[in-house]
Amino acid sequence: MIEIKNIIKTYKTGDVEFQALNDISFTIKDGEFVAIMGPSGSGKSTLMHILGALDIPTSGTYLLDKKDVSVLSDDELADIRRDKIGFVFQAFNLLPRTTVLRNVMLPLVYAGVHGAKRIERAKEALEAAGMDEAHFHHMSNQISGGQIQRVAIARALVNNPSLILADEPTGNLDSKTGEIVMETFQKLNKELKRTIILITHEQEIAEHADRILFIKDGKLVEDRTTRKKKIL
Ligand SMILES: Nc1ncnc2c1ncn2[C@@H]1O[C@H](COP(=O)(O)OP(=O)(O)OP(=O)(O)O)[C@@H](O)[C@H]1O
Ligand SMILES: [Mg+2]
Repeated sequence: MIEIKNIIKTYKTGDVEFQALNDISFTIKDGEFVAIMGPSGSGKSTLMHILGALDIPTSGTYLLDKKDVSVLSDDELADIRRDKIGFVFQAFNLLPRTTVLRNVMLPLVYAGVHGAKRIERAKEALEAAGMDEAHFHHMSNQISGGQIQRVAIARALVNNPSLILADEPTGNLDSKTGEIVMETFQKLNKELKRTIILITHEQEIAEHADRILFIKDGKLVEDRTTRKKKIL
């Protein structure tokens, strides 16, 4: 499903060039659950932005479902994002003073889904993300960190993407809440067969995935399978 080949990403700040990704290649199959680890500044988010069609590489190819994403225009990239990809970012960007349900419905507004269908799909996504119905009408600034996380996951799911990308989704959670959020990702992967790629600093968190890619100085330095944690 994902085929990254010889990806190089160079950032230019004035006259200074910095190579954030230095010849990275790998493939990820449909339905895999992959964690990306590596030191701060190693290029993880840069890689995720490319995988998420938010940015294109300086050179190299990125095939997503056999389509070469590395040569697309901004409009074409936006189409790919809308149709195929769900994002969970560390800054979740929920709208404050807006209910949980409305936050999850928002991507559907842009996708042109109307009326009762919109509400129904948002509720389904919240359920899939493990959010208790009691909170659907709470304001997003009046729920806990773990609940915010579930809303962010629900919002990433609501367009039914085949690929879910998450940048440090447990970064600011206590370890217990982090585990619960990871169990949610595991269920989405196993039961709904979504491909998931997740960045984390924590080994414990990464062990929930099937496979870990280690990035250092913009290079892939290790690619290994895990002894997968079980869902309790
Ligand atoms: N827009 C940009 N312009 C210039 N340099 C950038 C830009 N974005 C990232 N960089 C640089 O590229 C390198 C990789 O950044 P990236 O955000 O991918 O790291 P990361 O592995 O996600 O780090 P962290 O774990 O701290 O989030 C860093 O040295 C960073 O300073
Ligand atoms: Mg980062």
